[in-house]
This record gives sequence, structure tokens and C-alpha cells, in this order.
Amino acid sequence: MIDRDRQWRSLMEMAEIGATPAGGVCRLALTDEDKQSRDLFVKWAEEAGCEVRVDRVGNIFARRAGTDPDAAPVVTGSHLDSQPLGGKFDGPYGVLAGLEVVRALNDADTETRAPIDIVCWTDEEGCRFTSKTMGSMVFAGLLTEEQVRAVTDPDGNTFGDELERIGYAGAEPVGGTPVKAYFENHIEQGPVLEQAGVPVGAVVGAQGQRCFLVTVTGEEGHAGTVPMVQRKDSFLGAARMTDAVNRAAFQFDPVPVATVAHVRVRPNSRNTIPGETVFTIDSRHRDAGVLAALEEVMLGDIREIAENMGLGIDIQRTSLAAPVAFDDSCVAAIRRAAKDSGIACMDVFSGAGHDACKIASIAPSGMIFVPCEKGISHNEAENATPDDLAAGTRVLMGAVVEAANTP
Ligand code: GLV
Ligand code: MN
Ligand code: MN
Repeated sequence: MIDRDRQWRSLMEMAEIGATPAGGVCRLALTDEDKQSRDLFVKWAEEAGCEVRVDRVGNIFARRAGTDPDAAPVVTGSHLDSQPLGGKFDGPYGVLAGLEVVRALNDADTETRAPIDIVCWTDEEGCRFTSKTMGSMVFAGLLTEEQVRAVTDPDGNTFGDELERIGYAGAEPVGGTPVKAYFENHIEQGPVLEQAGVPVGAVVGAQGQRCFLVTVTGEEGHAGTVPMVQRKDSFLGAARMTDAVNRAAFQFDPVPVATVAHVRVRPNSRNTIPGETVFTIDSRHRDAGVLAALEEVMLGDIREIAENMGLGIDIQRTSLAAPVAFDDSCVAAIRRAAKDSGIACMDVFSGAGHDACKIASIAPSGMIFVPCEKGISHNEAENATPDDLAAGTRVLMGAVVEAANTP
């Protein structure tokens, strides 16, 4: 039986690592806090009798053995890294739901045919090293180890060096082994389930994404002396470009989401005209065609603004992900597990990206959502109820056990 209070206690203990004063969590990928959260998960997994392996990009797999040594594992998990002002549940819920399933199977002395792997993927959030879902992308063969190891944070630290520094550059090859099925539990991060009063969502798909890194080059100068008409202000350019990105989104129906959020200004001094501004664009939609058209409009407008203002412009695409449809048999297994447990469940669609979206390219995959308060996420106020979190984990247990016992 899933133990609601044990799962809640584990979530709260995990949330103490990197806790922020306003009740959230700051646990950026490959920082000391990330290491501490990994260490705690490894300790709990070993206490639950799992054998723990770490691959060369730091993905952690904690295995509960099955009765058939040749069977491919059923894998379940998520991530422990967070946003800079993140919440307690985005990520850890999926990892600790997997742990709770293993603990509950242990309590009941229940064996499964296939092994169950609880996974903690490296750097899902992508807010320190820019690119996201990196561990699962290497596992799925969508990025190489070398590409991921070379990416840098704003201070110039590489992913590879930071992985070694925290002691999680493991020995195992990344991926390349069969996965029977992959399930990931997550808070919804939107308002649909809460508004419907339904505790569990069977996720049928996720939005596609296109992300960019834009570098605007102007000219530094004295804020008190350079006449307004002679300035090449990179930040003013970036501000106009931000507005253009927002306007571009509203040209489509239904309106895609497009966000400029990470901005770096050089030299970032009150009385020097900004010489260089670097910013990110994150755009998402359910329809790949709309995303492509949005890219054309946004980037065209940005280049035009740069030209009109005499600014240099460099645009790099940092991610290109098609919309995902989760595996029909996994979605059906989730609906069935909910029905068998007497838990109300509805189909939902994911606005956020997840490791499951990457694993879906190599293995049958599905996701289970639970409501979060007012749909708030990527925010220290993120909250969910012990009952809903336990309901989601009960459904996970049904789906995982069914997959693990099906030849
Ligand atoms: C992850 O949180 C994302 O959807 O960007
Ligand atoms: Mn997440
Ligand atoms: Mn997130």
C-alpha cells in the first residue's frame, strides 16, 4: 500500500536541501545542493534494497530486482534539480513516487517479473547550462555525451567539470539498453486538474518547443555624454525585440506561448550604455507547423529591429523539440490503474517539457499528473496535497506493476 504520509515526509525532507526563505527550493543542476539531494536519494534507495548505478552523464538508476534476470526494466522517475526560485514538487515528486512504489512493494513482499528502475535524470530544468533535459536526451541518443559535457554556465564552468566536482560522473555507458516502459509522475504545473476537481491526469501529449539564445551587440559609452541619437544600446534593442516576440505570438490562433526570461547585460553598470545583451526565447505550441511559422516571424522581426538600430545580432537555436504523443498502451495502463484503484482520472495535455518527452522517442512512455495549487509552478509557492500526491503514486504503482509483469 502506498503510504501517503511516508511519501510526504520524504518530499518535505528533500525540500530542506536548498530551501529558500519563502518556502521554495534552489537546487540548480550540478551544484552542491544537487549533490546533496542525489546523496539523499541514493541513501534512501539503498535502504530500500535497490542497487544503484550512475551513468557517465550523472543519471542515477536505483534497481529493485525482478524475478526474470533477462527482462528489460520498467523505469520510473524524474529530476531533483530545480529552478532558481523553484518549488518543492517539480521533479522530486516523480523520483520519490518511484521510491514510494518500491517501498510499498517491499512492505507487501511483492515480486515483479521485470526489474523496476527508479531514475533521477541529470539537469532537467536547463536554467543553469541553458539546454534542458540533458541527461534524458543523452540516454535517448538525442545529444552526445561530448556535447553535454562541453556546455557552460554563465561563469564558464563546464557541465563535465561540475559533474566530476560533485562526484556524479559515473562509470556506466549512457542508454543503449532496452526499456520495457517509462512512467513519470509530476505535478501538472497548470490549473486544469484542480479546476476539474480530478486528482489524476493521464497525460496524452506535450507541447513542442523551440528555444533560442540571442546576442545583441551595441557599443558601450558614457551614459552622461553620448547623445541619445548616437547610441547603440544593446539592451534597448533587446527590449524592443522582447516586445516583438510577444506580439509575434499573438498573430497565431490558438496563441502559442513565447517567453524572454533570462537576460544578461554587459557591463551591467548604471552609467554605461549596455554594449552587449544576451537573452533567451522559449516558444511552445501543440502544433509543429505553428511553431515553425512563429520562429520565422519572431526571428525576422528581431533581425529587422537590429538592422534599424545599427546593432549586431547573433541567433542560435538551443532546442528544437516536436510535440509529443505519449504511447497509447502506457496511457491506457494509467487510465486502467486509476479505474482499478477507484481514483478519478481525466486525459490532460502537458504545457511543460519533461524527461518523459525525450524517453518517448526510444521506449513506450507515459506520464501521470496530479493537481498543484492554483496551477502555480516554477515559483516558491508551488504546492500540492498529500492526498493527491498519494493518489498519483497509487496509479503509478498499478501501471508499473502491470508493465513489469506483462511478458
Ligand atoms: C521545464 O520545466 C520546462 O517545461 O521548461
Ligand atoms: Mn519538472
Ligand atoms: Mn521545471
